[in-house]
Amino acid sequence: MTQRLEPQQIINNAAYPIDDTNNDARKVVIDQVRRELAEDGCAVIRNFFSTDGLNALLAEATERKPMTYYSPDKLCNVYLNDGDPIFPKDHPINIFLPRSNGFITSDLFDAETNARRLYYWQPLKQFLCECLGKDELHIYEDPVSNMIVNVSKPGQQFNWHFDTNEFTITMLLQAAASGGIFEYIPELRSCDDECYDEVYTVLKGNRTRVRQLELQAGDLQFFLGRFSLHQVTENTGTTDRLLLIMSFSERPGMVGSMARVKTLYGKTTDVHEKNGIRADGLVD
Ligand SMILES: [Fe+2]
Repeated sequence: MTQRLEPQQIINNAAYPIDDTNNDARKVVIDQVRRELAEDGCAVIRNFFSTDGLNALLAEATERKPMTYYSPDKLCNVYLNDGDPIFPKDHPINIFLPRSNGFITSDLFDAETNARRLYYWQPLKQFLCECLGKDELHIYEDPVSNMIVNVSKPGQQFNWHFDTNEFTITMLLQAAASGGIFEYIPELRSCDDECYDEVYTVLKGNRTRVRQLELQAGDLQFFLGRFSLHQVTENTGTTDRLLLIMSFSERPGMVGSMARVKTLYGKTTDVHEKNGIRADGLVD
């Protein structure tokens, strides 16, 4: 059993007093995140967790690692759809790249785990909401995928893609010893222009606009992945890369679709059968 910590002890409260809404340090970090998101579509809060907090979250994930679900390795295009025969074979929509990943699903973290109590801690949600400049955030209600750990084993990679959801919030618990680097190209496409030529050059190896983000264990990352092409490079080390993903939505009551949840996480619940509201997942 992992040490039980209060949420204030899990995070690096001295640097980030997120539950004290009158604290200037809190305002400073919110402003910093907003500025970085506006400029770059990406923001990082370094050392977001305390040493004890990071150790506890990592221990919980490591305990559950034997239960990781690995969906079969597959080839995906950057839009994570089936391609379109109306376009030529070497069009970005018909270029498929390898992708391999595993997930420790939400249902494996009971209500008393540090990860889950942090996820449901109101001051965290309020803080993230202000960082993202939203009026309100809700817990993503999907019982399988709302708070998950992405496991990238040596040799695995998550190739170039755009996200379907507007924002992603991740917390790195364990970096790869080598590789496993987050790479992105800010604003590669826009609402009204797919910029296929630009996407094509990246898929063919052009790296002139590629930025790399060196994340360390304990860092919290915000990312707006709808318009920024991004990938996590192959884990070329000998240990796993572990990434905690917490999902929030702007609308209440959101749950993933049956088919999508089944494909990514290998299981569904009666909530998916009854509900079935389409919501964007976090990983694609
Ligand atoms: Fe993504």
